[in-house]
Amino acid sequence: RARMVAVEQSRFITGADGNNVTPYIANLIGRNLHKKDAHPLGIIKAKIENYFAKLPGDTKFDIVDNLDPLVNAQECFDDLLIPTDHPGRKPSDTYYVSRPGGREVSSATDTLLRTHTSAHQSTLMRSGKEAFLCTGDVYRRDEIDATHFPVFHQMEGVKLFDPALVGGTMSRDEWLASDGCKLVAADLKKTLEGLVDELFGPVEKQWRDDFFPFTEPSFELDIFYNGDWMEVLGCGVIHSGVLSNCGLSNRHGWAFGLGLERLAMVLFTIPDIRLFWSDDQRFLSQFKAGQINTFQSYSKFPPCLKDIAFWLPEGFEPNDFFELGRGVCGELVEKIELVDEFTNAKKGKTSHCYRITYRSMERSLTNEEINVMQEQLREQAATKLKVELR
Ligand code: PHE
Repeated sequence: RARMVAVEQSRFITGADGNNVTPYIANLIGRNLHKKDAHPLGIIKAKIENYFAKLPGDTKFDIVDNLDPLVNAQECFDDLLIPTDHPGRKPSDTYYVSRPGGREVSSATDTLLRTHTSAHQSTLMRSGKEAFLCTGDVYRRDEIDATHFPVFHQMEGVKLFDPALVGGTMSRDEWLASDGCKLVAADLKKTLEGLVDELFGPVEKQWRDDFFPFTEPSFELDIFYNGDWMEVLGCGVIHSGVLSNCGLSNRHGWAFGLGLERLAMVLFTIPDIRLFWSDDQRFLSQFKAGQINTFQSYSKFPPCLKDIAFWLPEGFEPNDFFELGRGVCGELVEKIELVDEFTNAKKGKTSHCYRITYRSMERSLTNEEINVMQEQLREQAATKLKVELR
């Protein structure tokens, strides 16, 4: 991975004009958390994809989850009718890889880390896709707290409708007032209501009018969960201007975008967004593909490891040793595991080596205090359990 990181970094920290990608951010690119099936983000992604695969009707949603997060301003903003003075285009909000001219108005060829998966809408529709779910990591310069991290994951959903059903050449106003537009919006709402029921169980929902430059009309879906209203996603009927930019002026459809972290934090009760990036087995081992379970929090403080090896007395029971460990070390012991076992045939004796993980839930432990504790454990194992220390 070190090599990969170096390669990734050289791709994104180019020294080009306007580059504001830091090594810390470049290092996070390519982790593909949404593609890990036993990771909360991968589990939620798969749940949503399954829901769409099982919907009645013959729309087949293509799964797209491997697109490069490096896009240009045309894809991320221009194609989506995002105005040139939109705050999302500012280098204060967005990671540019190259932005010649620095603070001047951005040009279509400026390259950047996508700020939303909507950056792929037009490209995918131009390539002929009629319905798709596109997932990826997105990048935003933002505040720092338990629910904000500069990289998070979104899923974009798009469905185009049969032109025989909702087509015809119309002005923008005629389209917005038409039955076709109402049909698309109703299908969108019904589909997304079904999705949140699938994820959260039957929940109270509330639609609110919203605004995105690339959908018209636009909505936000809120649900009442754990005693609070929570925003789940943004969506809308695809703006006719977006479609005509793609050469699809006779077509209509809907689009939505949702954040996977927000859903996963609530569904798995994960308290801090940084945990998604953890390589710690205490985090990763808690999740299984296809399963939503409650996350058990664990200490953030470092462990202190000590080994103890001894010859077993007649009738030795490991549980007696574990009990002794609990008695001597109290809640400072997190784990005791057997790491080595062998029998000396000549002596007719068996040896066990146990690794003790000391860790406090509240503070960093010092090696000195743990040495004292470990010495007590050794003494008591010898006197009370009659083991022969090695
Ligand atoms: N891209 C929007 C966001 O990041 C969400 C969205 C997607 C809204 C598709 C409408 C349609 O907030």
